[in-house]
Amino acid sequence: KVTFKYKTGEGPVTLDVEDGLTLMEAARLEGVDGILADCGGGAICGTCHVVVDSVWFDKCGPLDATEDVLLGLSPEREGTSRLACQIEVVDAVDGISVTVPESQI
Ligand code: FES
Repeated sequence: KVTFKYKTGEGPVTLDVEDGLTLMEAARLEGVDGILADCGGGAICGTCHVVVDSVWFDKCGPLDATEDVLLGLSPEREGTSRLACQIEVVDAVDGISVTVPESQI
């Protein structure tokens, strides 16, 4: 399961997600608000930014240099920010919870 939360008061939205999809792909399939994913998962648009709940952050796999640079362009970046297209849904992140930045709503 993956939960998307909002600071704006809507949601949260919890999805059952097939292993092997990314958080972004799961969100797009279900029409989750705020995961725009304009580049389709290429880690170049930054419109799938999410803030991962801190207890899950270390389970999300490594942050590569390209993702780090892209996240650095967002004024809403927090210490546990990630691109949802770079987080694969595997057993280690089953139950993960993330918050969608307000600018993407
Ligand atoms: Fe474009 Fe993730 S979908 S950066």
